[in-house]
Amino acid sequence: MSFTVAIDGPAAAGKGTISKAVAAEFGFGHLDTGLLYRAVGRKVLHGASAIEAAETLTTEDLTADDLRTPEVAQAASKVAVIAEVRAALVDFQRAFARRAGGAVLDGRDIGTVICPKAPVKLYVTASAEVRAERRWKELTGNGHEAALEDVLADVVARDARDRERAEAPLVAAEDAVHIDTSDLTIDEAVAAACAAVRAKQGSLNFE
Ligand code: CDP
Repeated sequence: MSFTVAIDGPAAAGKGTISKAVAAEFGFGHLDTGLLYRAVGRKVLHGASAIEAAETLTTEDLTADDLRTPEVAQAASKVAVIAEVRAALVDFQRAFARRAGGAVLDGRDIGTVICPKAPVKLYVTASAEVRAERRWKELTGNGHEAALEDVLADVVARDARDRERAEAPLVAAEDAVHIDTSDLTIDEAVAAACAAVRAKQGSLNFE
């Protein structure tokens, strides 16, 4: 039986950490859909056309070691406004969402466009300052050089582009459970997410 958990929210809100923990807790598969857009953006930085890159994306493209850089993140949010790019990535995401045994997908439009019928939808947020500081710690911890003010500018610019685009803009689904992680520890945020999943599993009698 499939069971989809859709997790959306702005840049660096903690979606990845929460998604991985929820997937581990319930034995679900996890797809970080941002990686798809990052892989397309990275190919564009290397000279490819965005639509062709999206239409020919391979699993190998998803394992490049520079997908997490701020440059690739900006390129990702630029290709993400293109309707044909988004359309090329829909089937893969929906197939993953239907996988037997359950799936967690995190991104911007999972609960609104990719899986509008997902039984669990979470909208994970935090203030821009908190998100930038977390992303800065992550980047510098992984050996990337980054200034906090540049990371904040990146996060704010991407949020604006993601929210204002015509195609699948970043917006909370009406039935999403909101989790503001600004003042939560990782454990507290994960506990809130797991509680939302458990509540729905109980009502659906999912084993
Ligand atoms: O990790 P972070 O939250 O910083 O970003 P990400 O989830 O890796 O996504 C990178 C970019 O891809 C976002 O800024 C969006 O523009 C785009 N994206 C999207 O449009 N739709 C998704 N489902 C996932 C990502």
